Amino acid sequence: MIDGIEIRSATTGDLDDIRRVEAAAFISPWRREFFEAELQLPGRVTLVAVDGTGEVAGYVFAMFIFDEMHINKIAVAASFRRRGIARSLMQRCLEFARGHDIHLISLEVRKSNDGAQAFYRRLEFTETFIRPRYYPDGEAAVVMSLVV
Ligand SMILES: CC(C)(COP(=O)(O)OP(=O)(O)OC[C@H]1O[C@@H](n2cnc3c(N)ncnc32)[C@H](O)[C@@H]1OP(=O)(O)O)[C@@H](O)C(=O)NCCC(=O)NCCS
Repeated sequence: MIDGIEIRSATTGDLDDIRRVEAAAFISPWRREFFEAELQLPGRVTLVAVDGTGEVAGYVFAMFIFDEMHINKIAVAASFRRRGIARSLMQRCLEFARGHDIHLISLEVRKSNDGAQAFYRRLEFTETFIRPRYYPDGEAAVVMSLVV
């Protein structure tokens, strides 16, 4: 738990804030409809971290099927970074996984995104393989995973 930050389920009322953080954090941000769909679909873990004023500081959107979970999105607004918010969001996903017989968590991260890779390594994710030309602009993805 981080002082002044609450982690709760995401709702459609959070989508304007989420989209703002998303647009600033990613070269190819998800459209609002993507997030809206994720909130409706089964097999999803969709969480926001909000501060005392209700502002969305960060979010994670994950999906799971059988014994695997995939982290589709995680981002923290620049002014809230390096306070452990993303780690707390991931810890909530890990707790969910452990409680639901999920044994593998995987994700893709841009090859050039050293900061995010360092973040995942800190959580003990390891690089599994490279997925060439994964992103729309042709950049490769590093696939990282964690057995839980
Ligand atoms: C990656 C991201 C989600 C991390 O969020 P955060 O809340 O700042 O991360 P945390 O504070 O929980 O970091 C936990 C630890 O991870 C590591 N870490 C996090 N960001 C890092 C960075 N940019 N460079 C190196 N290590 C980093 C550190 O070890 C950190 O602990 P410390 O601050 O005590 O050194 C955030 O930088 C972000 O939103 N980036 C843009 C979007 C993105 O790249 N998302 C991932 C796409 S796959």
